[in-house]
Amino acid sequence: MKVLLSPTQLQDGIQQMADQISQHYQGRAITVVGILTGSLMLLADLIRMLDQPIRISLVEASSYHGTTTRGELTINPDLLSDIKGRDILLIDDIFDTGYTLQKVIRMIEDLQPNSVRSAVLLLKEGRQEVELRPDFVGFQIPDQFVVGYGLDYQDLFRNLPYVATLEPEDLSGEAE
Ligand code: IMP
Ligand code: MG
Repeated sequence: MKVLLSPTQLQDGIQQMADQISQHYQGRAITVVGILTGSLMLLADLIRMLDQPIRISLVEASSYHGTTTRGELTINPDLLSDIKGRDILLIDDIFDTGYTLQKVIRMIEDLQPNSVRSAVLLLKEGRQEVELRPDFVGFQIPDQFVVGYGLDYQDLFRNLPYVATLEPEDLSGEAE
């Protein structure tokens, strides 16, 4: 594993993103909707850097089923609170092909919020397959598989306080 973003770099990038978000909303109350499970770290750190009134809600999305290859994308809105008329800021760990965020945004828009914006910690360069782009991005990273700070490989490594690239040898064989 190789560290790509240290804890200090992460905090600096997230602070910059928080400043942009505060600037955008000008003190208006927002509902921050975290996409589980990868957004948890970012959600917890980011909301503490925002100073307007914040509601928190969650939605579950999963596209990877234990490997780095794409599985079917499922969205589970059971944890989502009533968001009608609210200003929604969607939070995810990484914007890769973009299908996850696109699908969640469409689902959220059906629930008639006042507005929907999105913020991601990472954007993987050159991977996008949709026209949509997140409104706020912490870091652009090269096309490598990364773990840590919420991001997983086979549901492991989410707790690392940094973002690291997984080397091919880390990917071979089962994670213990
Ligand atoms: P997308 O739908 O292709 O944009 O993929 C977004 C989701 O895929 C993220 O929420 C992650 O769960 C997962 N993902 C994409 N790239 C990586 C990676 O490099 N490491 C870990 N998870 C990833
Ligand atoms: Mg995810």
